[in-house]
Amino acid sequence: MISAVPKPLIYLAITAVFLAFVPPALIARVRAMNSDARRIHLVQDMDNQASIRAQAPNPLFRDGRGARPPVGGTVARGGLRTDDHLHIGFVDGRWVDTFPPSIEVDRALVERGRERYDIYCAICHGYAGYGDGMVHRRAMELVNNPAIGNETQWVQPRSLHDPAVRSQSPGEIFNTITNGRNTMAGYQAQVPVRDRWAIVAYVRALQRSQNARQADLGGTRPESLDLFNLRQSDQEPQQ
Ligand code: HEC
Repeated sequence: MISAVPKPLIYLAITAVFLAFVPPALIARVRAMNSDARRIHLVQDMDNQASIRAQAPNPLFRDGRGARPPVGGTVARGGLRTDDHLHIGFVDGRWVDTFPPSIEVDRALVERGRERYDIYCAICHGYAGYGDGMVHRRAMELVNNPAIGNETQWVQPRSLHDPAVRSQSPGEIFNTITNGRNTMAGYQAQVPVRDRWAIVAYVRALQRSQNARQADLGGTRPESLDLFNLRQSDQEPQQ
């Protein structure tokens, strides 16, 4: 039977079998090697498409920029700010003197405010708000050091108990936190809007704590309260 097949055909078949191993061997080799050349994309996918890369120019637009600024008036999803009371603290031409209705001023808010104040503000304004935080003390050390402090200018963080600050409405304080004031930078990039109001509440609590009158304690206490008793009752757990 086998002798019926012509010899050349058998050689051809053997050669074909050997050659059949060559492409898989080449592919296996290439897959195991590193190469600077681009991948061959038989099926185009999204990592290899005709598009403008970040920061690359694009002659299609008159300003030649590839990265397009958002169209004027664009509002990111969830970024619509129609509530001026909440977002600016300024309504009808004046700073608001109430908290936004959407923010409930309760103990939890003040506690949150204290935490945020201690993180973001205390370094400059001090834990009690007198403008004597660590940054200020360090700055004064440097300013007073003749070797480094030559002609250095330093503006002390404002005491929050300064009458000019105490008389400010919540909206104005909110605005200082949001946009900064004079040499103080704004915190809207770091502190979300609700937390900024929480800080306002805590600043108010701080101001009250340093300027409390007996009347603030409410009508339930006897007139003849002496200082010792007053201190004690201040330490009662408030819940
Ligand atoms: C890096 C230091 C620094 C930090 C942090 C800082 N402040 Fe100030 N703040 C200042 C300085 C300095 C001034 C005075 C600015 C001036 O008059 O040039 C000031 C002023 C103020 C004033 C008075 C504004 C006025 O009407 O004069 C308020 C209120 C205030 N800061 C609140 C805050 C609160 C709340 C935070 C935390 C979110 C904060 N600051 C964080 C440095 C700081």
